[in-house]
Amino acid sequence: MARRRKGEGQTALITGASGGIGLDIADCFAKDGYDLILVARNADALAAQAHRLASQYNVKTTPIAIDLGETDAGKTLAGDIRARGLSVDVLVNNAGYGTAGAFKGSDRATQLGMIDLNVRALVELTHEFWPDFLAKRRGGVLNVASTASFQPGPLMAIYYASKAFVLSFSEALWREAKGTGVKVSCLCPGPTATGFRERAGTGKTRLSNMGPAVSSMSVAKAGYRAFQKNQRVIITGLRNRFLARLVPYLPRRTVLNLVYKMQSPK
Ligand SMILES: NC(=O)c1ccc[n+]([C@@H]2O[C@H](COP(=O)([O-])OP(=O)(O)OC[C@H]3O[C@@H](n4cnc5c(N)ncnc54)[C@H](OP(=O)(O)O)[C@@H]3O)[C@@H](O)[C@H]2O)c1
Repeated sequence: MARRRKGEGQTALITGASGGIGLDIADCFAKDGYDLILVARNADALAAQAHRLASQYNVKTTPIAIDLGETDAGKTLAGDIRARGLSVDVLVNNAGYGTAGAFKGSDRATQLGMIDLNVRALVELTHEFWPDFLAKRRGGVLNVASTASFQPGPLMAIYYASKAFVLSFSEALWREAKGTGVKVSCLCPGPTATGFRERAGTGKTRLSNMGPAVSSMSVAKAGYRAFQKNQRVIITGLRNRFLARLVPYLPRRTVLNLVYKMQSPK
């Protein structure tokens, strides 16, 4: 008889699952038998990936195309999921974007849209499903933050601030969930080879000279493993871990100057 897989009978909702880190996280959950609800804007890409994942891993997949940057998108999505008779055991808040450049002269809609997606939608979805996790005393939340979470980011200010929020919120929830059986992990990747860089324009900054971006599957696997262990924070890569741990011991002014330099054009 085949061995029962860890995720059988559970469903993971993954935002930003049409590509990049989110899609690779979807593979990790599906491999362990979790059914999937895949969310992003690109309906065709989602449908194709939902089909692939279902046949590759023998799990149920439900693609839902929605712009999570829209007001109340989290509430709309949760309503849609419940109307389909589905429930969520694990929420992966992965959808997000960044934009490099000075705050002066930046596009207002792009800056506010980052807060809407990276912060507001993440909080809204967590608020929707958190009571269910606590009631079931299992499952939980895997939030995707960044190494940007650990210090302010001159020349990418709103993105860094949004990811600092994600880290702070996640760690607080981790403590609130202690003893309940509900897990909370915050995945903090450094530069990763996905579509992120093109949208963010970070390929033109000095930061991109600091070595090649790592594969998104290696990041996804690290995040998945950390979530299963209820590891509070996972920073991928030795150098990233070292730098993030070093930051609190450096003078703030030095940190700001270093990040400013790294985020400057080449
Ligand atoms: N790549 C890196 O270097 C890096 C480093 C640290 C942290 N991160 C974080 O990792 C997460 C995933 O990024 P990634 O690198 O995988 O980037 P990506 O390849 O650009 O993927 C982003 C995903 O989010 C979806 N998305 C974007 N805007 C959306 C919206 N308004 N509503 C719903 N879905 C939306 C995209 O799909 P659609 O376009 O179809 O909507 C896509 O599936 C982000 O939170 C990012 O901040 C990335």
